[in-house]
Amino acid sequence: MKRSVPLIIGNWKLNPITLSDAAYLASAVARKHKTTPEPYVAIAPPFPYLAEVGKKIAKSAVALAAQDVHYEPIGPFTGEVSAAQLKDLGATFVIIGHSERRAMGESDAVVRKKVQAVLKHRLTPIVCVGERERDEQGNFFGFVEAQLRSLAEVLPAAVMKKVVIAYEPIWAIGTGNTATVDDVKEMQLFIETVLTKLYDRPTAKAVRLLYGGSVKPGNAAALHAEGDMNGFLVGGASLKADDFAAIINAVS
Ligand code: 13P
Repeated sequence: MKRSVPLIIGNWKLNPITLSDAAYLASAVARKHKTTPEPYVAIAPPFPYLAEVGKKIAKSAVALAAQDVHYEPIGPFTGEVSAAQLKDLGATFVIIGHSERRAMGESDAVVRKKVQAVLKHRLTPIVCVGERERDEQGNFFGFVEAQLRSLAEVLPAAVMKKVVIAYEPIWAIGTGNTATVDDVKEMQLFIETVLTKLYDRPTAKAVRLLYGGSVKPGNAAALHAEGDMNGFLVGGASLKADDFAAIINAVS
């Protein structure tokens, strides 16, 4: 994956309600992104729809992503899904540590174990970071730095280069309060600086950064052009094939 080519991932979260709706949406996304390899596009449906969605996008340029994973490879872990199972279903990407999962108690330590499990199976982890709120003093920078530092504790530089970081400020998710272009650009620089400190400049430059939080057809072009991230993690707008296509076109 070339970092210079943007990556757009649709995180369907707990949507839609039926398998047939999921298949319909996946087919529509696939039709709109048949062969063009740029930008890279992926969709992350709920686990029960992965196989069917995988079939619907098989002949398109759209890749399959999962919304979560368990770090254990096999055994008595009721309700969990392993990296090997996701790989076998054809997934390429796995979202890890989304703030909605962290809110359910997922810790940095668990996020780390999941990232390691995913990398072991040659899947690409999309690790979500981001603050709950912004404060005048800029303490939120420290919050994001701690999330990155936790990853750096277990990932050597060569491995870190394979990780995608998605900056998703919690206050911007599902609220319509998109971060401004300046907020995004500032965080892009900050994350790069932190990664340079934790690793080195080539590693910081190799890590792909995505922005997520109320990305819509109307703001995608400006965020992409001036925010200096390498793509988007899209929630709500990825549930409408036309809106998702408009976001893809905005970065093309
Ligand atoms: P929204 O685009 O709905 O704000 O969601 C962003 C998100 O959480 C993607 O993972």
